[in-house]
Amino acid sequence: MQSLESKKTTLVEEVRRRRTFAIISHPDAGKTTLTEKLLLYGGAIHLAGSVKARRAARHATSDWMEMERERGISVTSSALSFEYQGFRINLLDTPGHQDFSEDTYRTLVAADSAVMLLDNRKGVEEQTRKLFEVCRLRRIPIFTFVNKCDRIGVPPLQLLDDVEADLGIRCSPVTWPVSDGTSFLGVFDRSTGALSLFEKGSDHGQTRAPEEVAGLDDPRVEELLGSVARDRLAEEIELLDAAGAPFDAEALLRGELSPVFFGSALTNFGVEPFLDHFLGHAPPPAPRTASGKAGDREVVPTDEAFSGFVFKIQANMDPKHRDRVAFIRVCSGRFEAGASVLNTRSGKPVRLARPQQFFAQEREAVTSAWPGDVVGIHDRGSLRIGDTLVDGLELEFEGIPSFSPEHFARVQVPDPLRRKHLDKGLLQLSEEGAVQVFFTDGATGPAPVVGVVGPLQFDVLLHRLEHEYGIVARLEPMPFRDARWVTGPESELRRVARGHDCSLVRDRSGRHLLLFRNEWVRQSVEGREKDLKFDRMAPA
Ligand code: G4P
Repeated sequence: MQSLESKKTTLVEEVRRRRTFAIISHPDAGKTTLTEKLLLYGGAIHLAGSVKARRAARHATSDWMEMERERGISVTSSALSFEYQGFRINLLDTPGHQDFSEDTYRTLVAADSAVMLLDNRKGVEEQTRKLFEVCRLRRIPIFTFVNKCDRIGVPPLQLLDDVEADLGIRCSPVTWPVSDGTSFLGVFDRSTGALSLFEKGSDHGQTRAPEEVAGLDDPRVEELLGSVARDRLAEEIELLDAAGAPFDAEALLRGELSPVFFGSALTNFGVEPFLDHFLGHAPPPAPRTASGKAGDREVVPTDEAFSGFVFKIQANMDPKHRDRVAFIRVCSGRFEAGASVLNTRSGKPVRLARPQQFFAQEREAVTSAWPGDVVGIHDRGSLRIGDTLVDGLELEFEGIPSFSPEHFARVQVPDPLRRKHLDKGLLQLSEEGAVQVFFTDGATGPAPVVGVVGPLQFDVLLHRLEHEYGIVARLEPMPFRDARWVTGPESELRRVARGHDCSLVRDRSGRHLLLFRNEWVRQSVEGREKDLKFDRMAPA
């Protein structure tokens, strides 16, 4: 039996060494490649290429059912864990491409920090910007990795200026690229003055790139770079030092400054210096706010009582197997397989049944987990997104916010007698977080409108309505691509909604949303209607 004191020491130690983060990026910036290289450098895989091959197989088919048949992949990639230099790293998957959805945003609520991955030719792109906003609202530290430096891109200084202007975050380069394009040789580490020069392997980055470390005045550097490139690098470094933006760990933790790293995930250049710095500066699990009988309180990860929340539910598409996997982020105490805990919302006990974690590409049963970890448990439909699970505590974490959708459609059933079934199906699927449901004022009462972040969710909705609720529904897409919850006098809201490019709907709690034809319309309405309050996340 472990003594109480040693149990506490274990908990403190397990929390201290955990790093739970997500990569935010636009499709094609290299997230799959970087993930794989982090696993390679973390020692979790020995040959890069397998995750990628599987992604390619998945990507090749736009048929959603095909993707579901390969469900193992998406489940596996919900969170990957590996050990590196004494750290336990939990890398949360933020679905991109066609499966970009609210799940992508919700995942960020489970992360303690984020890595913003940029393509060096494109800088900040649309999806990155949206994900960045969510990270900023949560005030989590954001690291930046500028990828693809093996190709000539936007000059690094200009790229950083663009990021600062676009996102309003200070950038502090920690590593700096040595040349670019085919002459990209490595990175200079401003914090140590060391130059990591890499050698391109002949195996397309499947294994670690051989690396040599030298100082800027090492004669080998001039030999390798030539005196012109060496002097240019020295000048750039001087310029950076003079320009300021020194690294500030406190500002990073407040989400005000982003340390920037350059590299190439494809050839592995710069991946290891990034990983080492990241682990040194990324925070371990932080306290989280919860409400209890005695008001709000901070739940500290090293509190011994277990607490966690559900941030994602993966439904099983096979109607013969209705169980689902609920992904729990552990917030405090020790998670123990098989334990019975309390679901604060329903007041009912929940058994932590058949818990699983994902190591590199293998799914493994787990017996215990610690704050920062993500565990998938089997659920027969009793859990919802945002549910708090506790053992011996009375509290509820702040709910997971709803994020404004970007695609909308009216839902219709040809048989009016099925309308009740439709309402039930929509209610359950919205509680699970698969879609959001709103209502317009139709001629025969409120008509349902579904809203999603990624259009693939529409296919999921139709499939699930048919297979789980026996409803063959039809979607009639609406021409809106942006929305905000809006607060103000109803007459004013109706006046704005009479404009050509807007529409007014209500959510289940009766809160109003304005739908806009596009982002431009939204911005102009927001700019004009100063008396209304617009929110991207559903107000409490
Ligand atoms: P994603 O998950 O963010 O969508 O991106 P992914 O890793 O799949 O990478 C997108 C494309 O960018 C891939 O090329 C990949 O090889 C390439 N890429 C990733 N990192 C780098 C890098 O550091 N340098 C260069 N030059 N390219 C990089 P693809 O042609 O679409 O796929 P593939 O044929 O290479 O698999």
